Amino acid sequence: MARISAGVATSHVPLLGRIIDINQTDSDEWRPVFSGYDFTRRWIAEQKPDVVILVYNDHATAFDMKIIPTFAIGCGPEFQPADEGFGARPVPTVQGAPDLASHIAQSVIQQDFDLTIVNEMDVDHGLTVPLSLMFGQPQAWPCKVIPLAVNVVLYPGPSGQRCLNLGRAIRQAVESFDADLNVQIWGTGGLSHQLLGERAGLINQQWDLAFMDKLKDDYAQLASIPQSEYIRESGTEGCEMVMWLVMRGALNARVEEIHRHYHVPVSNTALGHLVYENRD
Ligand code: DHB
Ligand code: FE
Repeated sequence: MARISAGVATSHVPLLGRIIDINQTDSDEWRPVFSGYDFTRRWIAEQKPDVVILVYNDHATAFDMKIIPTFAIGCGPEFQPADEGFGARPVPTVQGAPDLASHIAQSVIQQDFDLTIVNEMDVDHGLTVPLSLMFGQPQAWPCKVIPLAVNVVLYPGPSGQRCLNLGRAIRQAVESFDADLNVQIWGTGGLSHQLLGERAGLINQQWDLAFMDKLKDDYAQLASIPQSEYIRESGTEGCEMVMWLVMRGALNARVEEIHRHYHVPVSNTALGHLVYENRD
């Protein structure tokens, strides 16, 4: 059977993609940010996941004010990196995993979660920046990717509890897929940041670090935080953090945190990164 072996959380700040694309990650300014991923790049090269379920949010790229699904799963064979206004990033096409993705859709919908099935969409920085952070600049991404998009852009987004429960449903789906696959789940976005308005530039380090501390064992408490509190404490875009709860919900009750990185600021954003391995 397929199994979820590990979870990865990371911010997906678009500027990081640009810095990778222009080969500046080792500059004095950027080394402290990118060196926080050295461990993970070595670890993931050993882990060799077959498939990554990549939980991210679309930033008005594939979806716009016409249609915004709360949860959407990419079931297509491939997804092109999006042009977000400056041309598409020079990164490989993302190869999907249609069989597993369709199975997840079937299983999760039968568990009463409404997933929108998307067979064709471009994927923006929310998805491609995490891939670049973990895998660098390969000719082809070394694993298949199932995009799992969560609406955190247009109010009302899903609650933390619903995100945690979605993770649990995804885990059940993966574990009932009859193929020997090493699957990872990544939750992206956050940490505290507000890009627009009077509080633009807001960062709340205390809140971020408490969130990172609680995610391992006190995730039930994090799941009860209302969206209004995310916005007040972590900024209007800080509620991207609920996507880390999807990742946590898909893992065992017992996980080991094998890596952590926190850096402020990156652009206007607090950057956080965690790696969890499942334990029995
Ligand atoms: C920015 C955009 C994001 O989507 C994000 O998660 C963090 C920062 C930005 O435009 O700087
Ligand atoms: Fe974002």
